[in-house]
Amino acid sequence: MLNFFKKKPHDNWAESPMHDNWYQSSAYFLSSFALITTVSEKGITTIGPYQLSFPFGVINRREWIVISRRGSNTSTHLKRVKKCAMNWVEYDHSKIKPIVDLGYPGQEPEDKMKDCPFELEETPTIAYRADPDRPKVIKNAFQVCECELNDNPEDFYYKGTEDTEYLLLKINHIFLREQWRKNLDLGDDMKIPNMPITFGFRNANQFWFAKHKKAFWLPTPEGKGAQHDAVMYIANRIDTEVTFTENACKQLTGIPKVFVKTALKGIIAEAKKQGITEINQSFVEMINQKRSGAS
Ligand SMILES: Cc1cc2nc3c(=O)[nH]c(=O)nc-3n(C[C@H](O)[C@H](O)[C@H](O)COP(=O)(O)O)c2cc1C
Repeated sequence: MLNFFKKKPHDNWAESPMHDNWYQSSAYFLSSFALITTVSEKGITTIGPYQLSFPFGVINRREWIVISRRGSNTSTHLKRVKKCAMNWVEYDHSKIKPIVDLGYPGQEPEDKMKDCPFELEETPTIAYRADPDRPKVIKNAFQVCECELNDNPEDFYYKGTEDTEYLLLKINHIFLREQWRKNLDLGDDMKIPNMPITFGFRNANQFWFAKHKKAFWLPTPEGKGAQHDAVMYIANRIDTEVTFTENACKQLTGIPKVFVKTALKGIIAEAKKQGITEINQSFVEMINQKRSGAS
């Protein structure tokens, strides 16, 4: 028995039976979780914890997919008013038990919010404040996505099952607390928020959580894959009003890494001066010619 968890170099494979909720009963899966705020029929903002919240539309469409048990408060409210806010908090041990309490099914919105230690505040989107269907957000959150339900059947093909609903959520706004917004631009000095992680519901009566250690980073491999991809990644994250085409980025692969951002910012400034919103190959060629004194 003592040797049960002792690592053997080549432990045998043992097939795990596929139970319902297989990701927490037949296997191991860890992730962050969102605290989703929605407004009840009586106008009360209520909170539901959801581990199964994943980025879905990630390039031109910005969406989350949330997988919920059918009939949860969150899905009922979302289907009624189509609006929610997804809140993420940093690790605070004193808040883990209250999160489990908020995740206990079958509670009426007013009852579950009675003992809730999370303070709520008005939406950061000024234009939403007069809308009674827009939920409040969690004061302690470091990140909030305000969303609306995308229930266009052409956008999402899977209607769910008798027990499960798939909520496709279009992101209207992403808000970060100022320090975390600034942090995104810090490059090497960037920090990662201390987000709690969960392994979900296990053994019939346990909800498992974990705390992560300090995050670290490694440089991306040099000389592997298409060089312009790396340039394009940086280029299209500098200014939301100006985008670079793939061919434009192919012209920029020779710039030493440390100067890439500065060079791109220079090109964007020039484009903006000329009222250009999409930087293509010929625009970059024109700038290159100008800089090399050829024109
Ligand atoms: C950390 C945590 C993660 C959870 N993740 C999910 C999930 O991804 N999907 C789900 O249907 N229920 C999940 N639950 C259970 C729901 O929170 C529970 O169904 C709750 O009733 C939802 O609240 P609501 O009815 O106010 O929406 C989770 C519970 C906890 C504590």
